[in-house]
Amino acid sequence: MKTTDPLKTFEERGYAIFSAVDRKPLDELRARIFDHAKTLVPYKGEKMEDFFNKFHEYGLRSSELNKFRMDLMGWCNRELRVARSLHEAFRGHISALVGPDVVAQKGTNLVVQPPGDKDQTPTHRDAPMSSHFEVIVWVPLVDVYKTKSMFISDRPHSAQALGKLQAGGSYGDFCSFIEKHSTNLEVDYGQACFFAGGIAHGCPLNAEKETRWSLNMRYKNIFSPYGTRGINDYFELLTLSPLAKVGFDFEKLEHAG
Ligand SMILES: [Fe+2]
Repeated sequence: MKTTDPLKTFEERGYAIFSAVDRKPLDELRARIFDHAKTLVPYKGEKMEDFFNKFHEYGLRSSELNKFRMDLMGWCNRELRVARSLHEAFRGHISALVGPDVVAQKGTNLVVQPPGDKDQTPTHRDAPMSSHFEVIVWVPLVDVYKTKSMFISDRPHSAQALGKLQAGGSYGDFCSFIEKHSTNLEVDYGQACFFAGGIAHGCPLNAEKETRWSLNMRYKNIFSPYGTRGINDYFELLTLSPLAKVGFDFEKLEHAG
């Protein structure tokens, strides 16, 4: 399993686990999130891994936890460049999937899921609301396994579930089929799960003894079709190929003339 090419796996299953090509930007990002997160609680001085994994010991209840998540996420979006840091960490893998002309989602989503937290992500597919041509990059900030993780269904089963919906099946039927035919991802910190928009996924109730922390981000080729969210309101430009740079410059000149 470890020796197989993740790109081949991605094509077969619609998702795959990729290891960071450069850990440094990811480590720096995580350290900054930790530094800020600890200012939002009565921090007890524990190490970063323990702080994340045992975060539930701070006992934040649902509305407090939600406020904590929103405060921290807002800070990340103002102060950090999450899309850029993750792109640096996983650059080669991202360009292998979307090409050299890359735009990224502007804001990040940060999820903190303590054991027993009922605020779960229901089973869904990101596309066609989001374009099929953007890759979703799910980055846990701690090692995740079993129900501390997310569940995901592969390409054949996601397609079968879609077929059931198209044949008039209910959303409930769709969910129960996916839940039966999905895996809880085992992902170590330093890795990310990349998946396509058509793949069904969600988050189970965390029944483990550790809190999950994860980021998710979307990357796409600037020239690929967009979903309901357009380039200006949702995406920022990260990299352009030499041809696209020359092309955009000429377009600007022609429009000015
Ligand atoms: Fe999703």
